[in-house]
Parts: sequence; structure tokens; C-alpha cells
Amino acid sequence: MPSPLNKTIRLSGKEKKSVVRRLPRKVSAATSDIFHDDVERALGLLPKNFFDLIIVDPPYNSGKDFGNQSDRQHQEHYKEWVYRWVGMLPYVLKPKGSLYICCDWRQSALFEDAITKAEFTILNRITWKRDKGRGASKNWKQNMEDIWYAVRDKQSYTFNLEEVKIPKKVIAPYKENGKPKDWYLNASGTAERMTHPSNIWTDLTVPFWSMPENTEHPTQKPEALIERIIRASSNTGDRILDLFSGSGTTSVVAKRLGRKFIGIEMNPDYVRLGQKRIQLSEKKKK
Ligand SMILES: C[S@@+](CC[C@H](N)C(=O)[O-])C[C@H]1O[C@@H](n2cnc3c(N)ncnc32)[C@H](O)[C@@H]1O
Repeated sequence: MPSPLNKTIRLSGKEKKSVVRRLPRKVSAATSDIFHDDVERALGLLPKNFFDLIIVDPPYNSGKDFGNQSDRQHQEHYKEWVYRWVGMLPYVLKPKGSLYICCDWRQSALFEDAITKAEFTILNRITWKRDKGRGASKNWKQNMEDIWYAVRDKQSYTFNLEEVKIPKKVIAPYKENGKPKDWYLNASGTAERMTHPSNIWTDLTVPFWSMPENTEHPTQKPEALIERIIRASSNTGDRILDLFSGSGTTSVVAKRLGRKFIGIEMNPDYVRLGQKRIQLSEKKKK
């Protein structure tokens, strides 16, 4: 009997039988959905200069079970595959668009090289402190993920700083003419200031079973992490590509924030799960 506190979103037997669609040959400007497809095939079909933001959360080749062999490839095969689809990304991204690719330390150098070879300019490497699991007895605990942040045109791209500033405790709250200078008191009465976000993200937890966003996907990203990326690097009405959509986190957050989205995922149950999450989030909004 699962705990009543367990909020994990699951598919019913009936939902598992629902039809999932492949990406159509002609994608219209109004399309916003998650499709059951292979990333390389999809990148070949998607219109050129179509997306304002691409968020990619691929298999890290670390042996996870996604119901397919995508995370269990020979490393040489994985490398060739990564170079192939990363090389296709600049064609579907608008010239002023942005790209984020998640990976772990084992694949970080590979992605840095693939992104650079695809003629993007890398602007940063974000490190997410991701606490999960107990750790190994003869190794340091794996506690981080990298997110490569790149653009096509380093002179012109969206970065909404005000949307992603972070509150920070002020150690010496200074007053000028009796009024706080650049700080305020938060709800619990602590002096705080909104500061520029850094490339080390330590404030975002992985989804847990007691959180309403949680699903059974083994490597689900937190909505708050994706929200930070979307707020910083896109505007309302923009179009986002959610590659390797998994449980649909990027698509769910994109929809909630008023962006259009296209998700691509090869496991049909994850496609259904993503679509269910979108429906639940819309219901909650209403
Ligand atoms: C790291 S997970 C993505 C997790 C997702 N960001 C989330 O929050 O749930 C990678 C996903 O890529 C999918 N995948 C692997 N190879 C694929 C391919 N060639 N085309 C489309 N999807 C693929 C896997 O089934 C898996 O769900």
C-alpha cells in the first residue's frame, strides 16, 4: 500500500494504451506537443531557424534503464551518435537562440567538443549540485551534473537577468538616510538582497516521491531547474525544443510559462507521462 504522501504521477492501464503520434513531416508554427520519435529523425524533419531555445537532456551513457538501450552504448558508438545529433542543432535554432545541454562529468569533455565543433559559442558551464543516493564505499559520491550553455551569436541573445536573480542574506545591512540600501526584509524578517545568479546551482533538489511533480522516470529533472533556464533564455510566446523529453519536464514548464514547445522522446510511455503532466498542470492552473 503506497503512502498517502506519495504523489508520484503514474499511467493507468488505459492511459498506457492511448495513441502517441510521431512528429509530422510538416510542423506548423502553432504546434505544441510531445512526439514519439527518434531525435535524429526529428532533427531532420524540423524546420530551419525554428526554435528560440533548445534544452537537451540526453542519456549520459551511465547504464540507466529507459526501456531502451540508449544509456547502455559502447562509448565509441555513443560518441559518434552525440557528434551526429549535436551537429544538427544549429540548423533548427534561430540565429539569436540559445542551447543548454545536460551531462555528467564522464561526458562533459565530449559535449564541450561537440558543441564547439557545431560552431556554437559556449558561454558557460553550469554545475548543478544534485544530491541523490547514498554514494560508493570506495569512491567520492557522484553529486553533480554539468549543463553546457551556448549560443549561435555571442553578440545577440536573450538573457533575462531580472527573471533569475537569487535572494541572498545580507551580512551587514547598510542604511542610507535611514533607508535600506539595495536590501529588504523577507517574510521571516531577515535582510536579503537580490543578487546575480552564478554558474553553481546548489538550491535545487531532484524530485522526490512526496513532490507532486514526481514520476517514475529514473532521471527526471526538477521543474525549478528547467524554469530557471526558460526564464533566463526565452520570452513569452517563444518556441522551445525539448530533446530527449523523458517525463516531459521541459515541455510542462514551457507550457506553464506561456512558451510553445516540441518534445521528442522514443519511449511511448514517457511521451504519455509527459502529456499527462501537461494536462494535470493545466487543470491545476485553472
Ligand atoms: C535523461 S532522460 C530525460 C529526462 C527528462 N529531462 C525528464 O525530466 O524526465 C533521456 C531520455 O531520452 C530518451 N531517448 C534516448 N534515446 C533517444 C532517441 N534516440 N530519441 C528520442 N529519445 C531518446 C530516453 O528514453 C530517456 O527518457
